Amino acid sequence: MADHADTLAVEFRNIDKAFYGVKANDNVNFDLRRGEVHALLGENGAGKSTLCSILAGLYRPDAGEFIFEGTPATFKTPKDALAAGVGMVYQHFRLVSNLTVAENLALGHPKLSVHISQEQLEEEARQLGEEYGLPVDPKARIWQLSVGEQQRVEILKLLYRDAKVLILDEPTAVLTPQESQQLFKTMRQLAAEGRSVIFVSHKLYEVKQVSDRVTVLRDGKTVGGAETKDAEPRDLARMMVGRELDLPTRDPNPDIGEPMLIAEDLRVAGDRGLEAVKGVSFEVRRGEVLGICGVSGNGQRELAYGLTGLRIPSSGKVILDDEDITKKTVEQRIDRGIAYVPQSRLGMGLAPGLTTEENLALKAYRKPPFSNGPMLAPGVFKENGTKLIEQYDIRGVRPGLPIRLLSGGNLQKALLAREVELNPKALIARSPTRGLDVGATEAVRNLVLDERAKGTAVLLISEDLDELLALSDRVLVLYEGEVVGRMPAEEATPERLGLLMAGHRDEGAA
Ligand SMILES: Nc1ncnc2c1ncn2[C@@H]1O[C@H](COP(=O)(O)OP(=O)(O)OP(=O)(O)O)[C@@H](O)[C@H]1O
Ligand SMILES: [Mg+2]
Repeated sequence: MADHADTLAVEFRNIDKAFYGVKANDNVNFDLRRGEVHALLGENGAGKSTLCSILAGLYRPDAGEFIFEGTPATFKTPKDALAAGVGMVYQHFRLVSNLTVAENLALGHPKLSVHISQEQLEEEARQLGEEYGLPVDPKARIWQLSVGEQQRVEILKLLYRDAKVLILDEPTAVLTPQESQQLFKTMRQLAAEGRSVIFVSHKLYEVKQVSDRVTVLRDGKTVGGAETKDAEPRDLARMMVGRELDLPTRDPNPDIGEPMLIAEDLRVAGDRGLEAVKGVSFEVRRGEVLGICGVSGNGQRELAYGLTGLRIPSSGKVILDDEDITKKTVEQRIDRGIAYVPQSRLGMGLAPGLTTEENLALKAYRKPPFSNGPMLAPGVFKENGTKLIEQYDIRGVRPGLPIRLLSGGNLQKALLAREVELNPKALIARSPTRGLDVGATEAVRNLVLDERAKGTAVLLISEDLDELLALSDRVLVLYEGEVVGRMPAEEATPERLGLLMAGHRDEGAA
């Protein structure tokens, strides 16, 4: 017993944690060895973030035992946890965006005082970044960084405090495949140094690739655990959802109709004034899914903005159902039939402080039956909400409480439900299944394919090649704001797309 305890960093015994009467963790058992990468798997809402947050001192368990490095412990605050050597990178980052990287590392550091110079701090940040394969410019301000870089800063922040247990809550959800591979190297390095890493992910192949052990949660309970090498992805998936799964893919659709959404030599500015979309043209037909792939930051975001009216294109045309909508506002475009599912669900897609019912009506509210002139009809909100929540299987909704309390997958289902309920002519979706578990991914993919079957023109912007190839009829590759390849899905392979995404021209593809 003694030497066993010696290798364990953390033991959770019979942990309970409820929110408003709903058990997010129900009698959970979990242990973490020193020097291992331990994957935590589970559907959206299974209780992964809750468990991690208890360990990181953000929440306190209602019941159960927590043993840290062999002795019973309680962390009252994240600060307590960090002082003991436990730190977490949250699903939603917590950096101060006006400060530099180096300043963020120093922020709240217990041992740091005014004595350390800016240069010293920056030098230390640089060295730490180099040592762990997490390069980032120490002088850069957070807002200037990509999400991938911001995540590196979060990890560096923990290493700067010499954390022994690092909890990464769905870190790859915001990374490109290449960035994920680099992160895996870093994770293995941390484990080799005797640190412990908790890795939350929905992607079974990632879990298979990087972890030593895996624990599966379902409905707040631990349903299984294994050495990763002995675990078959299929079995893990079944354990997670409690049934067999089959991810939907498109069947060739003979009903592709006339062009519905057209971009003509479209140019859109980026955040720093430079052109981000440089003369892009395409058409999406009724009943067709056009997939747009590219490494993040190659103009996808600005393209979506230009099409939805969040940013008015500097030149070129956007045409919807034969009408030029280039200069129309967001609201005017919604009225004409553009639906948009953005990448960041909270923030741009949903109003975090409003209830689920209110959010579900957020786009339709200006029209009857929701409002009649200036009057809003509360009964209709409720009815509409209840119907959609059931129809789209949105779980975890509690009446009167804000939507931000829903898990990621359920937020996404709510967002999609709201958008497709308006019967759009064109649906523009950016990474609609990012961060979703296999069950929710199945539901969201089905929603997208249902829209296609209804004759909606779907533009799917995604970095996930598997998904793109599973859903798209045609694929177009963006590189530095230009289209560098277009082809029917049948001719697209991950290798071919990967090369184009990296900037290699391919004569047959244009
Ligand atoms: N602060 C909170 N207040 C109320 N309910 C919460 C809170 N945090 C989590 N929950 C609820 O607890 C349950 C478990 O949520 P949790 O965030 O732990 O799931 P998860 O496994 O991390 O899901 P995801 O994969 O979507 O991130 C969900 O039903 C969620 O709505
Ligand atoms: Mg979570």
